[in-house]
Amino acid sequence: VEPLLTVDPAGATPLHRQVYDGLRSAILSGRLRPGDRLPATRSLAGELALSRQTVADAYDQLRAEGYVHARQGSGTFVVPDLLRDTVPFASSPELRSAGFAPQLSLWGRRAAEYANAGDEIPRYDLRPHRVASDDFPWDAWSAAVHRALDGAHADLLSFPPAAGYATLREAVAAHVGTYRSVGCTPDQVVIVNGSRQGLNLLIQLLTEPGARVAVEDPGYPAARAAFEARGLDVTYVPVDDEGMRVESLEAAGGLRLVHVTPSHQDPTGATLSLSRRLALLDFASACRSWVIEDDYDSEFRYEGRPVESLQGLDGNDLVIYAGTFSKSLLPGLRIGYLILPPAMVPHFVAARSLWDGGSPVLEQAALAEFMRSGGYERHIRKMRRVYRTRRDALVRSLARWFGTGARVGPRQGGLNLLVTLDTDIPAEELVRRAARAGIAMRDASPYYVRPPAQPTFLLGFAAITPDDIETAVARWAALAFPGD
Ligand SMILES: Cc1ncc(COP(=O)(O)O)c(C=O)c1O
Repeated sequence: VEPLLTVDPAGATPLHRQVYDGLRSAILSGRLRPGDRLPATRSLAGELALSRQTVADAYDQLRAEGYVHARQGSGTFVVPDLLRDTVPFASSPELRSAGFAPQLSLWGRRAAEYANAGDEIPRYDLRPHRVASDDFPWDAWSAAVHRALDGAHADLLSFPPAAGYATLREAVAAHVGTYRSVGCTPDQVVIVNGSRQGLNLLIQLLTEPGARVAVEDPGYPAARAAFEARGLDVTYVPVDDEGMRVESLEAAGGLRLVHVTPSHQDPTGATLSLSRRLALLDFASACRSWVIEDDYDSEFRYEGRPVESLQGLDGNDLVIYAGTFSKSLLPGLRIGYLILPPAMVPHFVAARSLWDGGSPVLEQAALAEFMRSGGYERHIRKMRRVYRTRRDALVRSLARWFGTGARVGPRQGGLNLLVTLDTDIPAEELVRRAARAGIAMRDASPYYVRPPAQPTFLLGFAAITPDDIETAVARWAALAFPGD
């Protein structure tokens, strides 16, 4: 017969643990059945060439966990009522993998559709929503982290305030006041783990499944996925070169929530016109709808004056302003913020407490320190020049290599350009060909509910140098228009 268990004297796992593991799996798989007698410690030790104490330690552990019991004078037995039926409790690969997806919630299924494939760092990075890897002020950041650590001992020893770290809330209030004409006090600022967390919590807090909400089409895929995952009744509002076509909201009627990117429409790059801003606020007050103003990259505006925030125009406390440090500083920080109407603050803070208790203290303290020292403003000023140069390079290279074959969307701000190609080759195929040439880019179709008529791409210019932009675009043009 096969031995009950084997041990590997040279293995990394301690021997008593190997004996315990072997007997435990014999019990769980049914080789040792309820009521069976275990070998005497002396004889098992002899068989395995181990000390008796080693085997006795394993038996003690099995006894302590309730697998076996000892009967005075007669030995150690598998507990008789361990398994109620006679089918051995064996793990089944089928149970483990098969049929898992249908057991997911609607939310889980929608999240699975949303998830991106793994990202490798490509030779030429034209993916959207990236930041430059070569111009980060690591020394200043590192100094801020150290100062923060020195000053935050007491705060690290407590749970964080769920609304956010006080000095960071003050710094954010000052920043959005200066840069974005957002009128708020630090009390209205809540810190979140990325503005995406803020959005998901707002959905949780302000909607029941089935409630009517609106997003832009094309629009930010994470917002659409979050709304759909909640089982909301979503209206997809068309977008043109003045941004969201607000007049289409009227047809949708009483909405609970509208998600909009007024400064720099994601992905088209359009700016919501003043008349539409006023119409949107009008609509929102008429049906008491909340408006989430997602202002994800407005720190980077290269032409003209930055447009004032929608929040700054709102006299009725209906606009919730969402900002992030993912573009202006570091995506890996996962820090964003919301500016809430004052009456919503305690409700949001309660929701945040229940959800995860708040954001890590050290990162918040470091960021507050970095902002206080002027490092953040310096970084934005510098990156605005860097990114403007890169944007110009991308526009120039596209014109040089594609001529009239590429249509480029609005370009006054942000880190990406929406580019439409005049070709019959499908967008996914063009992305695949580019990947083979070491160029990573994104087909814009996940942004669209109504698909675009021609292949459309959201090209990022932030994480690639002007020289590399020129090489990548030249190569891509050769792949997209091989006959030319
Ligand atoms: C419209 C929009 N909002 C927000 C974000 C950033 O979200 P987070 O703060 O969660 O990184 C992005 C970037 O991907 C975006 O495109």
